[in-house]
Amino acid sequence: MEGKKIKISPSILSADFTRLGEEIKAVEAAGADYIHIDVMDGQFVPNITIGPLLVEAARRATELPLDVHLMIDRPERFIEDFAKAGSDIITIHAEATPHLHRCVQAIKECGLRAGISINPSTPASAIEPLADYLDLVLVMSVNPGFGGQRFIDSALSKIKQVRAILDNANSVAELEVDGGIKVGNIAQAAKAGADVFVAGSAVFGSDDYKKTIADMRRELERDLN
Ligand code: DX5
Ligand code: ZN
Repeated sequence: MEGKKIKISPSILSADFTRLGEEIKAVEAAGADYIHIDVMDGQFVPNITIGPLLVEAARRATELPLDVHLMIDRPERFIEDFAKAGSDIITIHAEATPHLHRCVQAIKECGLRAGISINPSTPASAIEPLADYLDLVLVMSVNPGFGGQRFIDSALSKIKQVRAILDNANSVAELEVDGGIKVGNIAQAAKAGADVFVAGSAVFGSDDYKKTIADMRRELERDLN
């Protein structure tokens, strides 16, 4: 934790898509560090959302790193498309391909940062073989598919386990948590060892993005020091 910068990554899943460019610029002005983009295929998860075309549009709206979360089966089929669209970080699911290492390698060969995400029912050990190779590990604190769900408490011990695996491997990977993060529980996740926080409905569902992000940072500062 010490010395690592805490990052907030608002998920545009809860943004107003009729004004997507403005929404992205608004969270950037409000102090976001990354823009989280949730890609769903109706196969790996029971919802369909965003494709490369929209990542390309988001790319034109901001200079912030695009944190692209692929909730799709066999993501190896689409790495190049999402790289070309302007992603900075591509995170794939450990459950979505039998060829995780190859897929992470493909992301890196595109010159991007590579992440692996694990569902609530997937053990932390799933990331262990790749710990020193990854740029990011994303622990899901809801079952992927929808915004606005409740944080699953068992994610906290999972974050602790992932933190230990990363530290043990001397990995510099960021540890991101995604799902149900809001003012009131963000510091708990940080204490467990997370340093990047996805927040969809908590940010885009609020009246004042700047205040919400500032409140999150205040809670983190207050509870971590
Ligand atoms: C869930 C997505 C999340 C989601 C987070 O499948 O991966 O990124 O948008 O939304 P909230 O913060 O509303 O739980
Ligand atoms: Zn996500």
